[in-house]
Amino acid sequence: MCGIVGYIGRNSAVDILLDGLTSLEYRGYDSSGIAVNIDGKVQLYKAAGKLQNLKDIVEKNYAEISKSTIGIGHIRWATHGAPTVENAHPHSCNCGKLAVVHNGIIENFKELKEKLEKQGCTFRSQTDTETVAHLVASKFSQTHDLTEAVRLATKEIEGAYALCVIHQDVKDTIVATRRNAPLVVGFGDGENFVASDVPALIQYTKKAMYLDDNQIVTLTPDSVKLIDIDNNPVVQKVEMLPWEPVALSKMGYKHFMLKEIHEQPDVVRNVLSGKLRAIDEPIVLKEVTLDREKLKDLNRIQIVACGTSLHAAMVGKYLIEDFCGISVDVEPSSEYIYRKTITDKNTLVIGVSQSGETADTITAVRQAKSKGSHILIVTNRPDSTMAREADSLIPVNAGIEVSVAATKSYMAQLISFYLLAIYIAEVKGVNDLRDLKHELIILPQKIEKVLAHKEDIQQCARKFSGSKDFIFIARGINFPTALEGALKLKEISYINATGYTAGELKHGPIAMLDESMPVLSILMSGKVYDKILSNSEEAKARNARMIALTDSTDPKLNELFDCIIRVPEISEILSPALAVVPLQLLAYYIAEFLGKDVDQPRNLAKSVTVE
Ligand code: G6P
Repeated sequence: MCGIVGYIGRNSAVDILLDGLTSLEYRGYDSSGIAVNIDGKVQLYKAAGKLQNLKDIVEKNYAEISKSTIGIGHIRWATHGAPTVENAHPHSCNCGKLAVVHNGIIENFKELKEKLEKQGCTFRSQTDTETVAHLVASKFSQTHDLTEAVRLATKEIEGAYALCVIHQDVKDTIVATRRNAPLVVGFGDGENFVASDVPALIQYTKKAMYLDDNQIVTLTPDSVKLIDIDNNPVVQKVEMLPWEPVALSKMGYKHFMLKEIHEQPDVVRNVLSGKLRAIDEPIVLKEVTLDREKLKDLNRIQIVACGTSLHAAMVGKYLIEDFCGISVDVEPSSEYIYRKTITDKNTLVIGVSQSGETADTITAVRQAKSKGSHILIVTNRPDSTMAREADSLIPVNAGIEVSVAATKSYMAQLISFYLLAIYIAEVKGVNDLRDLKHELIILPQKIEKVLAHKEDIQQCARKFSGSKDFIFIARGINFPTALEGALKLKEISYINATGYTAGELKHGPIAMLDESMPVLSILMSGKVYDKILSNSEEAKARNARMIALTDSTDPKLNELFDCIIRVPEISEILSPALAVVPLQLLAYYIAEFLGKDVDQPRNLAKSVTVE
């Protein structure tokens, strides 16, 4: 959520800043800006809308801007103030000599603003960030030391932030700091970098240092100095990033989302690799470091997550309760953190997050950790802030996901939950799950079959793309699939879509049904098949437009449903990992027909670092 990048060295800064912002676009894309130092003067360039608008401005002024060998940049996901040029970062102070970029929320900005206004500061934006610019400038006028000015300012700031600051009176210096928002420093030769995330650095250096909360770093082309908020020098581990620069390419697909949907068979193979070796061998999950005896005695698990990860967690609950007989609670992290939870050292707490940076989930796992719980993190980013909180870490290895709507990372989380549930069942010595293991191994072929028939889904999408609302119904283990299908559709097509447990339809939502309402029934063979069929009949009787997603070949379904999306036969317990694929495609094609910005839907960001 918001991306920041800084460069200081002997090369021109602007291309490095723009490259960095391009790779941080997943964090927000409603406005952007850079600050550079041209002939001794700090200059700001900002644009509302997509990053391309900033690139166009830079291109027009390239000869000037490219002179600067220092700069900071920002890509915004608006929290305070609309996404306008005035509210775009960097922000400056009255004298215009300072520039600051910020990721996070300054919670006491109103109090600070009042105080600063009384001191004569004039505010030009509606952002919380501008208070930081004025505050640091005021400290600088007292100390003439930029690091000290930032340090003193952070003593007065409440909330979450990653900040980068430059000042034209302190040439060749960037000061950066963080509290509850990620920041990583990259070391070069005669140049140094700072950014919200590794992809912004990796083209230039693999040598990096993750900042901890309340640390302040001062970068010059030849030095990186670190102190804490009380001015004590700090030594922080410098590591070699296990990343390769990747040329992010759509590989001929129209959108990253479509490419990522098609990568799912290989994602399943990757997640299973080395962990599920043969159906007669136990699952190998060395990542779970919780003592086997403790695991056997475990009687309570809590899972915290947000968005799509929450839906994967809901499937996980179903599996662990079914296979292992352990009671599992799943809760959105944002709810978990504001109530009294019954969490203690005998509770295993699982945090699920593709980005590993979701502020709510980080806070939730930290709370659980402080109560002595073992923390297991399931994430696609083993180098993330959340991963560093883990006692046990399951990296889901889905590869970089560019599209904001999560698809392959969801699949990787699901498969990780299957492995985890089977692993715990095997440690406990309960249940023979060899049939499921066999099915997991052949799952990629079944997903490939669904992808090979995507034209059927495309046709169905065309038929329903004019709908204003959409209802998804399912029961049991596919209820989370209904929620995920509805979420995907909402996220990228902006159609009002809701997932219901099919049995609840008659307790209220049925009132909405008429000939304009599509109802998609997830009708997978198993113990709730007949029940969902009856619920679908009830919807049909109210004239709803019926769609089935099913592995059944029953010809009678043709009478009930206007459109049938068929998937290969699969056991009910594994069906969420197959049924979600056509729903991802359905959402994709509907959004595409509607001409929406599939990979960067409005108002969303891939990494949500504010609560
Ligand atoms: C954002 C994204 C969602 C994602 C959610 C949780 O809202 O737009 O796609 O599911 O965050 O993110 P996480 O990284 O914790 O899985």
